[in-house]
Amino acid sequence: MSTQLTQDELNKRRIFGIISHPDAGKTTLTEKLLLHGGAIHQAGTVKARKNAKFATSDWMEIEKQRGISVTSSVMQFDYRGKVISIMDTPGHNDFGEDTYRILTSVDSAVMVIDAAKGIETQTKKLFAVCRMRGIPIFTFMNKLDREAKDPLELIGELEDVLGMPAAAASWPIGSGLNFQGIYSILDNKVYLYKEKTTLKLGPDGVFGPELEDILTQNNLKALREGLELLEGAGYPVDPEAILEGELTPVFFGSALADFGVTCFLDHFLEMSPAPGPRKTDDGKEIDPLRPEFSGFIFKIQANMNPAHRDRLAFIRICSGRFERGMTVTLARTGKPIKLAQSTQLMANERENVEAAMAGDVIGIYDTGNFMIGDTLYQGKEAFEFEPLPTFPPELFSLVSPKDTMKAKQFQKGVQQLAQEGAIQVYHNEYKETVIGAVGQLQIEVFQYRLENEYNAPVRMSALDYSLARWVKVASADGTATPEEIDKIKSKIDSRCMLVFDRFERPLLLFANQFTLNYFRERHSELELLEATEV
Ligand code: G4P
Repeated sequence: MSTQLTQDELNKRRIFGIISHPDAGKTTLTEKLLLHGGAIHQAGTVKARKNAKFATSDWMEIEKQRGISVTSSVMQFDYRGKVISIMDTPGHNDFGEDTYRILTSVDSAVMVIDAAKGIETQTKKLFAVCRMRGIPIFTFMNKLDREAKDPLELIGELEDVLGMPAAAASWPIGSGLNFQGIYSILDNKVYLYKEKTTLKLGPDGVFGPELEDILTQNNLKALREGLELLEGAGYPVDPEAILEGELTPVFFGSALADFGVTCFLDHFLEMSPAPGPRKTDDGKEIDPLRPEFSGFIFKIQANMNPAHRDRLAFIRICSGRFERGMTVTLARTGKPIKLAQSTQLMANERENVEAAMAGDVIGIYDTGNFMIGDTLYQGKEAFEFEPLPTFPPELFSLVSPKDTMKAKQFQKGVQQLAQEGAIQVYHNEYKETVIGAVGQLQIEVFQYRLENEYNAPVRMSALDYSLARWVKVASADGTATPEEIDKIKSKIDSRCMLVFDRFERPLLLFANQFTLNYFRERHSELELLEATEV
């Protein structure tokens, strides 16, 4: 029998997602964090993984060809008595639902921004998901060793574009060739770049005499002016507002030079939340200190090893302890299931994990038992965690097997990929398959995997729709009667398309917001839902 978790143990856990626009420096920062935690011993390890040198499975070829990270993974490291899990998110414009889902299972997020470029589009989308969940967001302004935008301008832009107040936690002293360091507002300390030393300032802070011989005139002037302006118009770092997800603290540094990284990490660990309770589908909360194990599956990754068709189901542990070989209940079926083969993902290797606890993420080898969103629990009382939101697809394609002899493999592949959550699958009334994705890459991966894993090359034709809406029907499970389907069909015209999801719930696809609005006006008797839950 395992011992009860204590609040102390829990307080040591942190689990966060790291988001950025491609090339802002997410991989470099992750690597530096892991180095500080001793999880890797050599710079370049994460980078190499990003370049797919460690990728074993064939379909990761796509990653290699395009130099992007399709699969997101989890890395755990210890630092100053804390056990920290970083969830990497695919960093490309063509990100998919996976990226979103990862953000639904972390307790906070770190947003990396290239200080020369400011806020870019992908960051905005990811940021919106974090906001929706109300999780704390920490900002790291990167690449100060290069010519950067003015820090006040960067903070202003962050606030304007993301619609959230931002509070400077540190302040850069120059940038590019004139970069001399950062001033940590939170601990009144200057980190000097070239000297690689820190200087604790006296009670007057940057307005005292300590910096006069060290900094250039220009940098000292800009630093004092910047901080004066902040004093008057900036937001102070308010830990409560940060925890509520209403304010983002901003740190400056250079991931590449490993500068400002520990300053960021130390404060991040102080201000970010330990694992908290998670809601069930009937509005209760599961306390992480609940003695029995519980968790949910937020990601399923297939075919890490092409020799075995195994899948790895990622579980976020929400309460209690995990022990290898333990039997849990799979809430969806009510059946017991033994968690025999488990793994923990490190930067470049996987280790068998014997024990883990609330606030950890583990991978369980799966032979097809699990689905995205599944709840696993021990204990007498049955429950399910609230469903993970599904993010409405924006790209749709009609797909069929190129070779009709391969119809069976095709069906199997489509079903498995849908189960993994790799793609949304629908069918039209003629039983043709329609897939939906939030990113183009998801479609490419789908196509590649059907061909390479299921030996069923596909023909795809992109459909000119970008919005999907479920049609509200009388039944509780969302399936429509033949009369209801006839009614829907009588309303639609060539500008929209009727399809059914894998639960046979009807939905309509529209080209754009305009055609959707037009349809709504003309057919107000049909209620259209932007379903956000599976
Ligand atoms: P990503 O994961 O967000 O896509 O970004 P990544 O860390 O791969 O960084 C993108 C590029 O920016 C890399 O250069 C990296 O070395 C560089 N970089 C990251 N952080 C900093 C920084 O603080 N300062 C400077 N000057 N550069 C930084 P690359 O040329 O694409 O790759 P590499 O040849 O350096 O590996």
